[in-house]
Amino acid sequence: MLVTADARDPVETATDLLVVPVAELTDQTLPARTAAIDRALRGRLSAVIDAGDFRGKRDQRLLLYPDGELRAKRVLLLGLGPEGDLDSEALRRAGGQLVAEAASRRAPKLTLAVPPLRRVRIPEAAQALTEGAVLGAYRFDAYKSSEDDGPGEVAALQLCIDRAANLRAARQAVKRGTILAESQNLARDLSNAPANALPPAALAREAQRIAREVGLRARVLGVPELRKRKLGAILAVGGGSANPPRLISLEHRPARKQTETICFVGKGITFDSGGISIKPAQGMDEMKHDMSGAAAVIGALRACALLKVPQHVVGVIGAAENMPSGSAYRPGDIVTSGLGKTIEVLNTDAEGRVVLADALHWARSEFTPRAMIDLATLTGACVVALGHWATGLFGNNERLVERVRKAGESTGERTWPLPLWEGHRQAVRSEVADVKNTGAGREAGSSTAAAFLQAFVGDTPWVHLDIAGTGWTGRAEGYQPRGATGVGVRLLLELLAEWKGARLD
Ligand code: BES
Ligand code: MN
Ligand code: ZN
Repeated sequence: MLVTADARDPVETATDLLVVPVAELTDQTLPARTAAIDRALRGRLSAVIDAGDFRGKRDQRLLLYPDGELRAKRVLLLGLGPEGDLDSEALRRAGGQLVAEAASRRAPKLTLAVPPLRRVRIPEAAQALTEGAVLGAYRFDAYKSSEDDGPGEVAALQLCIDRAANLRAARQAVKRGTILAESQNLARDLSNAPANALPPAALAREAQRIAREVGLRARVLGVPELRKRKLGAILAVGGGSANPPRLISLEHRPARKQTETICFVGKGITFDSGGISIKPAQGMDEMKHDMSGAAAVIGALRACALLKVPQHVVGVIGAAENMPSGSAYRPGDIVTSGLGKTIEVLNTDAEGRVVLADALHWARSEFTPRAMIDLATLTGACVVALGHWATGLFGNNERLVERVRKAGESTGERTWPLPLWEGHRQAVRSEVADVKNTGAGREAGSSTAAAFLQAFVGDTPWVHLDIAGTGWTGRAEGYQPRGATGVGVRLLLELLAEWKGARLD
């Protein structure tokens, strides 16, 4: 979908659907731009409002068909709810709703009069509406051989910006919003792709293809290279599959050379059967999404390149398929990680942390980052604790944790801090090796998993995001269709936008 911004008068714009977002009305007076549309419609809006049929309540919708008074085929009033509650997430939601509305009416061209709001400035509103629309228009239909009779495709969204506002800033915001949402849609595509289509080698090829497209440097380590570098943890997890593991890095190198390096590390289990500690059949298909962290990292690096962020950003992905077989790692095995620490495997289904042990170590030893952020669909316990409402947030550096929390708050990707204490670190100590890959039974499973990861990051400022509950969803909502969410992409870019040579000590 193509989103554009201009200073055209919505009254004079030819379009399939003209959307007029309206905050909840407190009296009978309409905001200036809505009043102009009302005049053009010879008072039909105010007639509807006077009749009490539309008050701008959240999600309230009203469709009108102009009788030649406007150049629009249809006019949609979209209620935004009380003005005081309106933030950019509400506008993102509205953006998603209006493309759904346009699609169901087979209206390919959509025009929207961007409303002046108290809490959200015009460029910010334009960015949020763009993101919501591009994210809301997403469909995973690559595997449908014929168009079924679903909703139509929305081709274009035109944002009408008030003449008094800064059009250049609004256009820049639309461009940023488009890049961010398209990168998130890329992450959704990767995560939604079935495991037979995207084993580790194919994921690596996709990363390389995107790198070529946007100008990133890609490197892929296959089994011989992993062996040479003694990355025994990722080799152990990948050993049970006919589809061998890969370690992938994507590097964004900014024009200015002297700058900080930040690493994003993603769990890329292309399918998690549980391995020898096999999972129950119910819902196992969802484990094709177990590379959602990797998908977010690839999406984020794409956005870094296209937005030309000033930092040196490196994405590192540990990609493996966790399968049971004669060559699979077993409960009781002790494997030696790249860092040299030994890992006692007590459950082969706790594979994400084992792969991340090598990915985090590799990121650290290869790139000496100022900070590392990992994203992983790591624990079912996190789904129990936070559901799909928040990503689990852990770290070894309070300032970095707070920066990540703030970034997620402003992009609508909420994170919530969970503890990472000495007790959790003790719970992953092994009697026979340095660490074990399970904690204290079912107790605090997300925290003990985080404590395991911490054993591999040394003193590098690090944050771990457990996206097990937020990486995909079984229910469509707002700008989010069923399936992969692409969570993390916009959060990571917001973190970089607010970085400003972050003080972390
Ligand atoms: N990929 C799963 C975690 C997961 C479960 C993500 C459900 C999303 C939804 C992970 O590899 C896993 O299996 N974790 C185990 C760890 C346990 C064996 C210590 C879990 O959470 O049960
Ligand atoms: Mn698992
Ligand atoms: Zn897993």
